[in-house]
Amino acid sequence: MQIEKVGVVGCGLMGAGIAEICAKSGYETVVREVNDELLTKGLDRIGRSLDKAVCKGKLEENKKEEALGKLTGTTNLEDLADCDLVVEAIIESLEHKCELYAALDGIVKKSGVFASNTSSLTITEMAMATKRTERFLGLHFFNPVPIMKLVEVVRTIMTDDQVFEETKEFIRSLGKEPVSCQDNSGFIVNRLLVPYLLDAIRGLEEGIGTVEDIDKAMQLGCGYPMGPLTLLDFVGLDTTYYIANIMFEEYREKRFAPPPLLKQMVLAGRLGRKSGRGFYDYSNS
Ligand code: 3HC
Repeated sequence: MQIEKVGVVGCGLMGAGIAEICAKSGYETVVREVNDELLTKGLDRIGRSLDKAVCKGKLEENKKEEALGKLTGTTNLEDLADCDLVVEAIIESLEHKCELYAALDGIVKKSGVFASNTSSLTITEMAMATKRTERFLGLHFFNPVPIMKLVEVVRTIMTDDQVFEETKEFIRSLGKEPVSCQDNSGFIVNRLLVPYLLDAIRGLEEGIGTVEDIDKAMQLGCGYPMGPLTLLDFVGLDTTYYIANIMFEEYREKRFAPPPLLKQMVLAGRLGRKSGRGFYDYSNS
C-alpha cells in the first residue's frame, strides 16, 4: 500500500486539521466540502492554522507554501477517484456516513483505503456500506489536530492485517502516535473521557461547584490542560451530545447518558466556542 494522495471528506474542525497535517507532511491532499461557502471557510481555517504554526516557530514560511501547494479543495466527490486513502470527517450520523461511503465506493479506485474519523459510531456498520470491508478502518484524530499527538487506529474483524499495520505507519509519517483499538463505540479515549465530561455536567447540576471552580479544580488539582467544562466548550456541546447518545444507545449504561443540562444547552444553541456561548461566553473572543 503506497500512500501518495489522500482525500479528506469534510472540512470542518476535524477535516481541516486532518487535511492540514497531510499536506504539511508532503502528501498530495484533496479536501471535499458540500458547497463553496463551507469549502472556503474550511480552507481559511487551514490557512490560519498554518500561519499560527509559522508564528509559533513550528513551521518555516517556505514549508507553509509547500503545504498549501499540496492542498486542493473541491466540492466534487469524483476528484477523490485516484486517492490511495480517503479519510471521512463529516457529521456523526450513521445514515449520512453510510450514504457517503456507498457513493465513494463507486468512485474511488479499488485499491484505495477508507478511514472514518468517527469518535463513537461502529466502523463495521460503515464498512458494510461498501465492498471493500478489508480495506476499511477507523482513524480517530483529536482536536486540535495539528497539536494533539494521538490517533486511534481502529480495526474491525474484517480489516486486513497489512492495511492496518501500513496505516499505522502512515500515521507515524504525519508525526502522530497511533494506538490500536478494537471496534468498540468510543474506542479507548472517549470510553474514558465521555463519562468524565458528563459527570462534570452532572456535578454542576448538583451544585458541587461553580463552572469556574469545577474547571479550576481539575486543571490545578490533576494537571489537566483544560477543565472539563472548558473542554466541553472546546469540543462542542452538540458533538458531545451526539457521542453520548450513540454510546448510551450502544452500552445502555447510565454513565454514558447525556444529562438534562447538556440537552437543554444544545437545544438553546449554546454549543460552546463555535456558537459564541457554552458554559462560558466567547462573544468577545
Ligand atoms: N500548528 C502547530 N503547532 C501549534 C499550532 C498550530 N496551528 N498552534 C499552537 N501550536 C503549538 C504551540 O507552539 C505549542 O507548542 P509548545 O508546547 O512546543 O510550545 C503548543 O502547540 C500549544 O499551543 P498554545 O501554547 O498556543 O496553546 P495552549 O498551551 O494554550 O494549549 C491546547 C492549547 C493544546 C488546546 C491545550 O489546552 C490542550 O491540550 N487542551 C486539551 C485538548 C484535548 O483534550 N483535546 C482532545 C479533545 S477530545 C477529542 O478531540 C475527541 C472527540 O472525539 C471528542
